[in-house]
Amino acid sequence: MVNSLDAVTGVGGFTGKVIARRLLEAGRDVLNITNHPEKASNLGPRIRSIPFDFDHPDRLAQNLTGVCTLYNTYWIRFERGEMTFEKAVQNSKTLIEAAKTAGVKRIVHISVLNPSKESPFPYYRAKAEVEEFIKASGVSYAILRPAMIFGEGGVLINNLAYFLRRLPVFAIPGSGEYKVQPVYVEDLADLAIRLAVEDSDVITDATGPEIYTFNELVAMIKKAVGSRAIIVHSPIMLSLLVTTAMGIFLGDIIFTLDELRALDSNQLVSSSPPTCQTALSEWVSSNADRLGVTYLRDVRK
Ligand SMILES: NC(=O)c1ccc[n+]([C@@H]2O[C@H](COP(=O)([O-])OP(=O)(O)OC[C@H]3O[C@@H](n4cnc5c(N)ncnc54)[C@H](OP(=O)(O)O)[C@@H]3O)[C@@H](O)[C@H]2O)c1
Repeated sequence: MVNSLDAVTGVGGFTGKVIARRLLEAGRDVLNITNHPEKASNLGPRIRSIPFDFDHPDRLAQNLTGVCTLYNTYWIRFERGEMTFEKAVQNSKTLIEAAKTAGVKRIVHISVLNPSKESPFPYYRAKAEVEEFIKASGVSYAILRPAMIFGEGGVLINNLAYFLRRLPVFAIPGSGEYKVQPVYVEDLADLAIRLAVEDSDVITDATGPEIYTFNELVAMIKKAVGSRAIIVHSPIMLSLLVTTAMGIFLGDIIFTLDELRALDSNQLVSSSPPTCQTALSEWVSSNADRLGVTYLRDVRK
């Protein structure tokens, strides 16, 4: 009998939610691995939730017994308190080891575009370390590398629209000539599920068909939401100062210095042909009415 159970980290999160929904639609059962399983009880009868249990690898492995594919979205956007990138790497390794012990057949891992152990940015170095660990694990794998994910529940595009709707002046960090290549969350989930059933080990960029400079991205969203904001440019450090102050007001971290520097260093564009189809411009124009109407907070309380 073919096993019908897959595990997804963060079914309440941005990407995990879409992967889980698509798996359910395909007739699979889903095991949700999360920091707060108690909050996840309303996800329906075919989703069972378990804690990450990073401090109890044996229990985690026990809970993963019977899982066919592990879809791993687990990561942190920035370091905060005890949650450092080092800790996120350690936790990721524990999860992968537990999957191996449990006999999970394949790991589908969401990484990031252009990870590198030589990167000046800890996020990208840590992502490279997790990829290395998966490759050496002996478990069959597919690694997907998105740059910037957009779609229902995504914070970046929504919050750019939020500020463009409200501010008289919108300051683009740095020159704004650095490029981004966004991918639609539904396309990413679709690619993840398609790669789950392949036998060979795969590493692929997960990128959409459009490449924007940040200036073009802001101009496109501005037009779509009917913003009259005057667009200016400000030095990266001044942008950090202003967004940090606005973040304190909104109870969020809008950008970290590393994120602004990574943007500015053209990390968010692929040198390979796009692997996903949906254009951000189409999605923005069909969601313009509700884009940025409310602010989406990313930081965890
Ligand atoms: N969003 C983007 O634009 C983007 C761009 C490039 C790469 N990626 C990568 O894509 C993957 C999915 O991203 P996403 O935006 O969909 O992630 P997400 O929903 O925010 O979180 C995914 C998982 O990570 C856990 N998590 C997130 N922040 C955490 C924290 N501070 N402490 C402890 N656990 C935390 C979540 O735990 P809970 O289950 O408890 O919620 C969830 O299981 C990640 O690997 C990310 O690096 C995302």
